[in-house]
Amino acid sequence: MEKAQPALRLSIAADKPGARISPAMWGIFFEDINFGADGGLCAELVKNRSFEFPEPLMGWSKISPSHARGQLSIQHDGPFAPANPNYLRIESRATAPFGVANEGFRGMGVRQGEAYHFSAHIRNVSGSPSVRVALYSAQGHLLDSVQLQGFSSDWKKCTAVLNPQSTDAKARLYVLVDGEGVVDVDLVSLFPEHTWRNRIGGLRADMVQLLADLKPGFLRFPGGCIVEGSVLDYRYQWKNTVGPVEDRKLVINRWNYEFLHRPAPDYYQSFALGFFEFFQLCEDIGAQPLPIVNCGMACQFNSCELVPLDQLGSYVQDALDLIEFADGPADSTWGKLRAQMGHPEPFNMNMIGVGNEQWGPQYVERYNVFAAAIKAKHPEMKLVAATGSDATIFPNGKAEIEYLWSEWRALEPEIVDEHFYRYPEWFAENANLYDSYDRNGPRLLVGEYAAQSVGVASPDNRNNWKTALSEAAFMTGLERNADLVVMSCYAPLFGHKEAWQWTPNLIWCDNLCVYGTPNYYVQKAFSTNRGDVILPVHLSGGEADSQPSCFASATRDEAAGEIIVKVVNTGAERITAGLTINGASQLKSTGLAMTLSGELAAENSLEEPRKIAPVSATVAGVKPEFTYTFEPYSLTVLRLGERA
Ligand code: AHR
Repeated sequence: MEKAQPALRLSIAADKPGARISPAMWGIFFEDINFGADGGLCAELVKNRSFEFPEPLMGWSKISPSHARGQLSIQHDGPFAPANPNYLRIESRATAPFGVANEGFRGMGVRQGEAYHFSAHIRNVSGSPSVRVALYSAQGHLLDSVQLQGFSSDWKKCTAVLNPQSTDAKARLYVLVDGEGVVDVDLVSLFPEHTWRNRIGGLRADMVQLLADLKPGFLRFPGGCIVEGSVLDYRYQWKNTVGPVEDRKLVINRWNYEFLHRPAPDYYQSFALGFFEFFQLCEDIGAQPLPIVNCGMACQFNSCELVPLDQLGSYVQDALDLIEFADGPADSTWGKLRAQMGHPEPFNMNMIGVGNEQWGPQYVERYNVFAAAIKAKHPEMKLVAATGSDATIFPNGKAEIEYLWSEWRALEPEIVDEHFYRYPEWFAENANLYDSYDRNGPRLLVGEYAAQSVGVASPDNRNNWKTALSEAAFMTGLERNADLVVMSCYAPLFGHKEAWQWTPNLIWCDNLCVYGTPNYYVQKAFSTNRGDVILPVHLSGGEADSQPSCFASATRDEAAGEIIVKVVNTGAERITAGLTINGASQLKSTGLAMTLSGELAAENSLEEPRKIAPVSATVAGVKPEFTYTFEPYSLTVLRLGERA
């Protein structure tokens, strides 16, 4: 009996390799939203550690047992660090330990068996009291404490190590004065000893590990709308984020007040994670740095504040100085600071974004000023220009994007950044979006995208498998068009389970744990199976010509000697496809398949972090023509070896 022919055919032209794929093709985008930096990636456990929030005791509470007598006050005479002038004065009358407790970022996550490094700058004002530093669990159990003494009338950094007796996601840190006297306290800090690469004052190791596992080609930072600021005063100024931490001036986070439905009154930027740390992170995880600078415009969704063209000088200088900070000689003004911070070698920054989501002629005018100055000094620097926000969410969106594209075709920035926050269906329907783009203009960065299950900025959006699968379909289109699309990244990156403003996000965390969403595993499937050159694919038969539920792309990994085929089945039925590999040198008979699949509504969670996660299997019977069955609702990555 004759075997039934598969309805769908997938041909891969292994003998007709196309363009080379940019090593930066799949990257990540970091913005301090959803407690992504303070309370997230930055491992600091103390919130408002320098008492600089407008309510200086926000995050702190008075600890005053009934028989304790004392007083708390915020002072600023003779501060330890003039950039952050406030400090706490604790006066104790010695009837009982008296002082403050810090609540952390929705509590402090501490683990039994791990050491925590406490530090504070303390100055003795009168008497000779000691200071008790203690960790208490959410239930009020003492986890560990130490006694500090021997303060002088000058500021002194005092340190101690705490070893909590049990694990708690919501511990609190107490700083209590014992004995009669007055002390001043500032920059109170508690960090786990175990941070990423065990750096003092470093990043949360578990969160960075998930980033490193993506093997991202680039890191776009620090945003996002945070670059622009709702008003110019709150824009991101990289110079305030480098050098000693005590000199980094606190700024309100724009996501503190952006959404009436998700207010976060305790959300500020301490810049403990600043530009040096961003560059260092890039180096650690092998990602090219893509910093975005403010172009003299505040967010056009907010104030639209503009810097007059003839007053752009300091903004442009900030961009030039940033290049010097990243790559300048260690004896140049800004290169020297980088060297002092521990990195005399350059960070190898070769691109810079001018503006985040800006639009209109005022943006083009300002972009031109930046472009002229940067290119005059650094002709090698690639410029990234914006195209506003997603065309569907800003006023007059489509026309604005068309206008900007007409300008960019003439002005020729190397890279243009497009953003998409759309329904899941849109992503699958637009897998061929870039097939028809002009190849003669700038290259593309798809610098923010994420399928929104409900709608943009809706708090009900979910990171479910349906959204991830639709993004996977779209990504096959990005990969097929890798001659044009040279970079792409999902947005936003992190969300804290108890402190988010925006959803969906690629990675979620609480104070102790972190997990990747289905969307994360899709990103990982592409970024860790990138390949070096595009191989043309052709789908025919089945539904491929009408309402497609099957999407595919292919590449060759030259070092591994493998053809990589990615197939997305967005349908509810299995698809048995006939695969033809044209012109491959002899294929190995077994290959590898990595599959992601599940119910469309399935989500990962802290309790079930790998509900949607890759499953690997061996593929037997690989030949120039063979059949393979793709599971319903699945992304499959096939790695097929070629004999040398
Ligand atoms: O990713 C969240 C926000 O969406 C970014 O800050 C902004 O660039 C976009 O509008």
